[in-house]
Amino acid sequence: MKRFEKLKCAWALLLGAALGLGLVTTPSAAAENEGEALYGAQCADCHGARDIAWWADQYPDAQERRDWLDRFLRRHYPPADDERALIIEHIEAVIADEQ
Ligand code: HEC
Repeated sequence: MKRFEKLKCAWALLLGAALGLGLVTTPSAAAENEGEALYGAQCADCHGARDIAWWADQYPDAQERRDWLDRFLRRHYPPADDERALIIEHIEAVIADEQ
């Protein structure tokens, strides 16, 4: 019985910590955080905000830009398929913020 109480307590702590850290959020916010983290880990060493602004200049049309990024990132430091989509979402979010 004591063991069980301890377990329940640990779960409550974990959930509390997750909520506190903002790990439990709405799906779209979580996707954006994930895209940002993936970009940070796989792209940001070489590409900063000026690069992203430059990509937006080259492809002002959002749909064309997405298509281009989707093609380009299949052979340029290629992230996994699901990661590529999240990274493109992050790039688009940064561009939308700038405008
Ligand atoms: C080790 C450094 C490095 C990493 C990591 C890297 N890139 Fe690049 N990237 C470059 C260089 C250098 C170029 C310019 C030469 C070229 O086109 O290949 C470039 C070009 C690009 C371009 C095309 C620019 C143009 O005008 O044609 C895009 C878009 C891009 N990178 C996105 C990304 C994304 C997104 C990631 C993460 C998945 C990433 N890169 C990872 C170095 C890097």
